[in-house]
Amino acid sequence: MADLRTQVHDAYRAWSPESAHLIEAARDVFPGGDTRMSAHFGPYPLFIERAEGCHLYDADGHEIRDFMNNFTSLIHGHANPDVVEAVCDQMRQGSAYAAPTRSQVALGSLLQERIPSIEQLRFTSSGSEATLMTLRCARAVTGKHRIMKMEGGYHGSYELAEVSLVPLPGLSGLPDAPTPVPIDASIPPSILGDVVPCPFNDPETAQALIARHSHELAAVIVEPVLGSMGMIPATREFLQALRDATSAHGVLLVFDEVITLRIALGGAQQHHGVVPDLTALGKIIGGGLPIGAFGGSEELMRVFHPDEPNPVMHASTFSGNPLSMAAGAAAMGQWNTATIERTNDLGDRLRSGFNDAFARHGIRGQAIGLGSLVNLHLTDAPLTDARGTLDGFIRSGPINSLLHLAMLQRGVASASRLMYCTSTAMTDGDVDFAIDALDDALATLRPGIEAEYPALIG
Ligand SMILES: Cc1ncc(COP(=O)(O)O)c(C=O)c1O
Repeated sequence: MADLRTQVHDAYRAWSPESAHLIEAARDVFPGGDTRMSAHFGPYPLFIERAEGCHLYDADGHEIRDFMNNFTSLIHGHANPDVVEAVCDQMRQGSAYAAPTRSQVALGSLLQERIPSIEQLRFTSSGSEATLMTLRCARAVTGKHRIMKMEGGYHGSYELAEVSLVPLPGLSGLPDAPTPVPIDASIPPSILGDVVPCPFNDPETAQALIARHSHELAAVIVEPVLGSMGMIPATREFLQALRDATSAHGVLLVFDEVITLRIALGGAQQHHGVVPDLTALGKIIGGGLPIGAFGGSEELMRVFHPDEPNPVMHASTFSGNPLSMAAGAAAMGQWNTATIERTNDLGDRLRSGFNDAFARHGIRGQAIGLGSLVNLHLTDAPLTDARGTLDGFIRSGPINSLLHLAMLQRGVASASRLMYCTSTAMTDGDVDFAIDALDDALATLRPGIEAEYPALIG
């Protein structure tokens, strides 16, 4: 009998022959056949032909419920009619002018009204640029250069943001004095020296580290839900401890709300009642088109004022482009307390159904997250930080990725790290469909898990 990995991969290949064929041509063009690391998975990703509402349609003609929503960015699913109309109207009037537009002011004012920390803001083309600009603002304002980030925190695709993204055991030092870990061989020692890593959800250690490094720390940046580590919510106590310690020591606090803005109208800062100095945004505010934004008090944002003697340089060809502004305004216009509550309720239903499925099959697993953000983990240990979560990943071997493939074959898409999120395009029936798919996938995989990873049976 073939091992579990071979069984699942063979079934996936037989189910998706056209994607298997298309990846061959792609491998001639792109290293490994893909142009975006986070969207890749083995043995090959599905090629998608089109999408509508909460459905993806792949090259083999499968209809798949999309619980990935382009890594949480699509709160209304795909091809939302209002967004499509707004983008088509704008396209007829031109796509970018290198000039201010009414649409920038409209979307900017909407965000300014909703988000407690934002008195003034600027647009960028991505969440990566948005977090980077908050750090440059903090450095310019404080005159200090080091940045504290959380172990396992992801803030985009640039060197500093990826330090200690994966704090592997053996490389990351003691839990209360972590050492910076490079994500790959491209990170120079000078960048490592700029970062003070901090364990997530550990208020005492965070406060001690901020006090110890206060003379050189410009900012502390944190995601209110640790996304790429598997949707681990920060405790309110932890966020408040960061707030108190940064205020006491002249360090700026940055919330990366690129993912968590979907939790409440004013983001996680409103949900927790902890207001940072600067906030980075992205994903949902663009209605599905590329975007980012960052903002804070008028006083802090003044460093970008063009009339200042030496303003912080902020350019980028597609910042504030009218297409993203139009799509963003159309998407945000339909995003209100009622639709947010409904989307969060769907997330609660999904988490609880997934947890019941693990319990029914006697497999040590859990669904965690907050509101519409959900992540599966193949461990029943409490998950509060990056090190504990990585330990769970390592112990469960390839089961995460096999479960991801098994769910795809049952018509449910998530990130390969088993991240799911809900959208306004979904109904209770779509959520129940995903729960049934997990039920069936676990029933099929259980004999193999029992034979090869008995520690996961409980
Ligand atoms: C929390 C967080 N911050 C920043 C980013 C970077 O955003 P972008 O991919 O738009 O550059 C991401 C992207 O996944 C993210 O999840």
